[in-house]
Amino acid sequence: MKIIRDLQEMQAYALQARAEGKSAGLVPTMGYLHEGHLSLVQLSRRDDDLTFVSIFVNPIQFVPGEDLEAYPRDEARDCMLLEKEGVDAVFIPKPEDVYPKGHCTRISLEGPALGWCGDARPGHFTGVATICTMLFNLCQPHRAYFGQKDAQQVAVIKRLVDDLHLPLEIIVGSIVREADGLAMSSRNVYLQDNERKAALVLSRGLWAAERDFEAGETQSMRLLKTARDLWAQETLVEGEYAGIVNSATMKSVERAQPGDLILVAARVGRARLIDNWRLGDQPPDL
Ligand code: PAJ
Repeated sequence: MKIIRDLQEMQAYALQARAEGKSAGLVPTMGYLHEGHLSLVQLSRRDDDLTFVSIFVNPIQFVPGEDLEAYPRDEARDCMLLEKEGVDAVFIPKPEDVYPKGHCTRISLEGPALGWCGDARPGHFTGVATICTMLFNLCQPHRAYFGQKDAQQVAVIKRLVDDLHLPLEIIVGSIVREADGLAMSSRNVYLQDNERKAALVLSRGLWAAERDFEAGETQSMRLLKTARDLWAQETLVEGEYAGIVNSATMKSVERAQPGDLILVAARVGRARLIDNWRLGDQPPDL
């Protein structure tokens, strides 16, 4: 497995692979990898000739006061895991090369970037869209893989690729959860034992709403109340938002339809957690 830190070297390697007629998949990550990330790597390994994974804790997608400095990192372990998965190249650029002095170009977004995490983290999606555009240019993938865990990020990236006519396909992988239902996240390491247990009300709330939906309730307000009532039982969970949205536009819907998403965000101890559920899907039997 190649470990590439130099931007020009990455681009030259990717262009060479393209010239040889090989298809390439890119899994962009911020590292501290878990099964959720690896599930995306496995999708690419199945469908692409070459799989590239980027590891870059992107400073411009962190809002002032967020956990940029504290964000968990373990490059050696990440590379070991990726090697085991059969990844062809890991791209680990340096922040000073990605954002050299004078760098000032940013992708500005509207539509699905508005509301939800866009409100809670102003500038976050501009940071995500800017780095992803750069990674697409540097790694030249035919396909790029994103997790449904970050549903609004998926909607933003799909829109970005459509709007800028970028020549690649976005593939979305399902949310990978711990055995008890907690959505996997690099930020789960921030949780103390009691907080981790309390955080389960987030996924349980989504499934409680799903059961109401299956029983015929379609009013978003009522479905959301079901989810929120569950959170209210846990004092350690401080709800940030809950909404039911169209999965492409991220706009709230008054009446939910199959395929719409319930989005939730909450603070639990030091961690800010997000989760979501596609209405009409079969909840796990926990
Ligand atoms: P990061 O949080 O490291 O996530 C990298 C990719 O893994 C994202 O597409 C995310 O949705 C996916 N992922 C995370 N947890 C998952 C889970 N439990 N199940 C399935 N997929 C999961 O998202 C980012 O990094 C950054 O914003 C990035 C796109 C790399 C841009 O900097």
